[in-house]
Amino acid sequence: MIYTDDAAHDRMIDNFPDSPNTEEAIPTEDSIPTGRIASEWDYRASQNPYHYVDATKRNWNKAEFYAKGLRLVEQIVDPMLDHLKIDPAGKRVLEIGCGIGRLFEGLSQRFAEVYGIDVSSQMLEYGKANCPVQAVWIHGDGLSLTGIDSETIDYIISYEVIQHIPSKTIIEKYIRESYRVLKQGGGMQLHMRRGSDSLRQATVRQLPKPLRQLAASVANKMNAIEFMGDIDTWLGTTLKPSVAVELASSVGFEIIEILPDTIHRRNSGYWLVCVKPSTTNSLSRK
Ligand SMILES: C[S@@+](CC[C@H](N)C(=O)[O-])C[C@H]1O[C@@H](n2cnc3c(N)ncnc32)[C@H](O)[C@@H]1O
Repeated sequence: MIYTDDAAHDRMIDNFPDSPNTEEAIPTEDSIPTGRIASEWDYRASQNPYHYVDATKRNWNKAEFYAKGLRLVEQIVDPMLDHLKIDPAGKRVLEIGCGIGRLFEGLSQRFAEVYGIDVSSQMLEYGKANCPVQAVWIHGDGLSLTGIDSETIDYIISYEVIQHIPSKTIIEKYIRESYRVLKQGGGMQLHMRRGSDSLRQATVRQLPKPLRQLAASVANKMNAIEFMGDIDTWLGTTLKPSVAVELASSVGFEIIEILPDTIHRRNSGYWLVCVKPSTTNSLSRK
């Protein structure tokens, strides 16, 4: 649900209080090199790309996987475009962490051009070969939007990506880079993680690294937490909504809102929704 009037929006913000529990002692490992993030995701892509993009199911077939992407765009992108009063027709969208292009068909039905960037070359290769629509696939370095010129993108979406990033510094860099590549008046919706999906996950998250790895590997063997590779590149770090707002504001975004993640349970996620200021704002909005 999108809150359209100010009072309702304020009530929604109240439902996202920052509490000590949301700032769990995770990773924030700037010591994890982005090469490690890439190799972990390459490995996941080589094992079962559908499942590691969407872990709600193990045995996806291609048609149902991409069909889910169409529904997701209706559920997560359309309400934000309406909310921001952005008309996507004729515009260029960029997905950060596009994986194998699950959202591309839905995006291409709304936007004129679809760009996707991802740290995993294996995800991109699989996507290029299997995604039903044309797109521009960019192999990123895992923390910047290098390869994309400044002020060339109309809209940015990132879904189920930042929740896996184990470093606050990397998340901050993506927010900064998003501002750089967006055109004036361009909009952005970033799916963020504020807490854990389950008590089990929260418990693992708070352990010191060696114990966290041990607990995760035991839980994995017992099928209690399913992941592959380094647990930190799967669980990611958390970011309080207030910190996300501060970051977005410090890089210059104008309209900055925290909106509910209506897909995931337990309030573990939220949307950071921003617009880059424009002197010709009215021209690029509906
Ligand atoms: C769960 S998948 C989601 C893919 C896509 N957003 C979707 O919803 O279908 C997470 C994707 O994020 C990518 N990823 C993880 N860390 C990243 C980073 N630091 N920079 C860019 N992509 C990253 C992974 O390679 C993977 O393709």
